[in-house]
Amino acid sequence: MSPTYEKTSTSPVNIAVIKYWGKRDTALILPTNSSLSVTLSQEHLRSKTTIRASPDFEKTRLWLNGVEETDLTKNKRLQNCLRETRRLREEHEKKLCKEIGTENVVPLSKYNVHICSENNFPTAAGLASSASGFACLVYTLAQLYELPVSTTELSKIARQGSGSACRSLFGGFVAWEMGSQVDGSDSQAIQIAPKDYWPELEALICVVSDAKKGTSSTEGMQNTFTTSPLLQHRIKHVVPERMKSMTEAILKRDFQQFAEITMRDSNQFHAVCLDTFPPIFYLNDVSRAIIRVITEYNTCSESGKLKAAYTFDAGPNAVIYTLRENVPEIINIIAKFFPGDVENGKEYFTDPYQLFSGS
Ligand code: PMV
Repeated sequence: MSPTYEKTSTSPVNIAVIKYWGKRDTALILPTNSSLSVTLSQEHLRSKTTIRASPDFEKTRLWLNGVEETDLTKNKRLQNCLRETRRLREEHEKKLCKEIGTENVVPLSKYNVHICSENNFPTAAGLASSASGFACLVYTLAQLYELPVSTTELSKIARQGSGSACRSLFGGFVAWEMGSQVDGSDSQAIQIAPKDYWPELEALICVVSDAKKGTSSTEGMQNTFTTSPLLQHRIKHVVPERMKSMTEAILKRDFQQFAEITMRDSNQFHAVCLDTFPPIFYLNDVSRAIIRVITEYNTCSESGKLKAAYTFDAGPNAVIYTLRENVPEIINIIAKFFPGDVENGKEYFTDPYQLFSGS
């Protein structure tokens, strides 16, 4: 039997505070606006991927959460990531062959791979599973192939798996610059500040529903792009200014500015979904109840300052950004309004929706 080469890695989820929604090129996954996110810790939400390469493998295979995907030719996004990383490996092998001799270089680029990926949280439920999943795939391939490339360079490949995945390659605060080139060579992720730049910032995740979302982000954003006049306004007149103000808020560690833009941008994202024809609804009654609770909490704050910011992706689950000092208070409030088994930790509440509907 020939030797097998194997690498395993994990990747975190990121939650956007300036949302990406709309593609100007669907094949290369080039966005119609820049976006900005916070990468969460891997404690509760992460993808884990193991990739093996061997000359004995007859075909490339993929298992997602233990279930094998049978026809990989249909999975264009996976093919994009495999093709691009293999291309870089081929270039690397050619260089190595010249330097150390062909007999000393393993032709990994020619081997089929077996990919085994799992999430420790619900997949495709609006909790950014495709972001952590594709970031993990590309990062693990880069490790396996020992690619001598920067994280920003890798982000351009992860982007072709799932747009938001490019941001999960970095920790902390990350911008995805939309770029202007037609080949996507400048549509990439950059780190604005590392995680420890603002250690007081916390993200609380309220799992309202772990069901798979009704409209995928791919389908949803394409429909919005072709039918929503509000999206055109957002792209031209709102996001460019917001990217600047949000970057500034993060660099100043200004929670007021951060919180206001986060909530406004989440609201506008769901407004463009509603402006899509036919409309798309990602929020449900519990999501809207969470918005009301957080709004009330901010209105009643003694200092008159914003203490929490909600944001929702393409699903009903809420992410609440706040400063560490407010975490116990917010967990208490959520537990009161959505009573039940609230895990007494950071970042995660267990299914308040079921508990809510039962109360
Ligand atoms: O990368 P996708 O195709 O899963 O799209 C993600 C879109 C949002 O999560 C709604 C916004 C974002 O910027 O992450």
